[in-house]
Amino acid sequence: MSTQPRTAAPTMVNGFDPERMSDLSPHTRDAVERRNRVLGPVYRLFYHDPVEVVRGSGTYLYDAEGNEYLDAYNNVPCIGHSHPAVADAVTRQLHTVNTNTRYLQPSITEYAEDLLSTFPDALSNIVFTCSGSEANDLALRVAKYVTGRRGIIVTANAYHGVTETVAAISPSLGARSPLDIHVRTVDPFDHRTAIDDALGERLRTQIRSAVDDLERHGVGLAAFIADSIFSSDGVRSDPTGFLRPAIDEVHRAGGLYIADEVQPGFGRTGESWWGFQRHGIEPDIATIGKPMGNGMPIAAAVFRPDLLVEFGRNIRYFNTFGGNTVCVAAAQAVLDTIRAEGLIERAARVGANLKRAVQHATADVDMIGEVRGCGLFLGADVVDPVDGTPDAAGAAAVVNELRRRRVLISASGPAGNVLKVRPPLAFGEPDADRFLTEFAAALTSVAQR
Ligand SMILES: Cc1ncc(COP(=O)(O)O)c(C=O)c1O
Repeated sequence: MSTQPRTAAPTMVNGFDPERMSDLSPHTRDAVERRNRVLGPVYRLFYHDPVEVVRGSGTYLYDAEGNEYLDAYNNVPCIGHSHPAVADAVTRQLHTVNTNTRYLQPSITEYAEDLLSTFPDALSNIVFTCSGSEANDLALRVAKYVTGRRGIIVTANAYHGVTETVAAISPSLGARSPLDIHVRTVDPFDHRTAIDDALGERLRTQIRSAVDDLERHGVGLAAFIADSIFSSDGVRSDPTGFLRPAIDEVHRAGGLYIADEVQPGFGRTGESWWGFQRHGIEPDIATIGKPMGNGMPIAAAVFRPDLLVEFGRNIRYFNTFGGNTVCVAAAQAVLDTIRAEGLIERAARVGANLKRAVQHATADVDMIGEVRGCGLFLGADVVDPVDGTPDAAGAAAVVNELRRRRVLISASGPAGNVLKVRPPLAFGEPDADRFLTEFAAALTSVAQR
């Protein structure tokens, strides 16, 4: 369990800074000010020079002047922006009927069967929601109901969503966003290296301490929830299997393991449909979202059926738009396209080559430390060339220089210094080549400042 005081992590590493308003073109400044007048202060735009997007196609976005941006960041349009399979499925369904899970609709049942066939046999019930946050909210609710306990363990810079309950288990929202009193954090990562054979045992030990602490406070463990690629913790994919001892410990303590698959799910890791499968473990509950509908609002929690028996008998769940016919049509088109276009194999192939090429290109670049990740999810540490400490300002400079070159990525991690490259699964070899050219140029340009 982390004994460090929680740092005031930046609430968004790559956010537009309103202090820079005067640097913007008159058109962009106007657009930002007009937006702020009505949307208020809670939103953040990406980049020092925000991008106005008017169109998307495949792995590209376009602005009003027709400039093309290579999208190396957005995981939601996993099969590609404006993919015709989704557009057609949604249009057809909108012209037919769009209603909810209170009616018998074969397409919902068929999609559920199809999607569940990608999960381990034990996870055989699915409940639809509109967002990953709602899916996690429901997973926590069921975990607390079934176990009769309230303690939740998360990683030190986890993000699990925006409802009050899930924001309260999301330390990455920053020190001013309150955590629930029954939350404990674990921080097993050695932020200097990923080649860390002790990671699994360290995580297990920290889980044990967190469980002891919860029990000492009369709370007890309901669940450990983790994103198995640890995206907001700085992209921690390896060594595979490091989660296994921790999950054994969670189960020994009578808690449930909730796999938050919102980031690694739907084949992003290139090794399997679901991130937990890389670690050779099975969750009690998995939550999925983002890429599920290629941008249509559909998400879900997938359960071991025994967990839902009492909850289903005593409490019902109805989410008006969760699993509506149109979003299910989009989700079915996504599933079909991932299979038909071999996107998981592509994520493995393109991702492995990209990681190797980025490692090679940065081997002698002092400001880049470790490059890690799997499939189409890479993280690269930006560090101080002299002492190797995390350099969030350097990461922001690289991200903004790439944006200037019309390549979109972002940064994350507890210190905000991890470049996050996480393109649509449709990202191909030519895209990777273009990325590498611009990335090398951006590093040179930033190093010369
Ligand atoms: C790991 C993880 N879980 C949950 C969520 C919340 O999903 P949503 O934004 O669909 O509510 C996110 C969103 O970024 C996420 O990254």
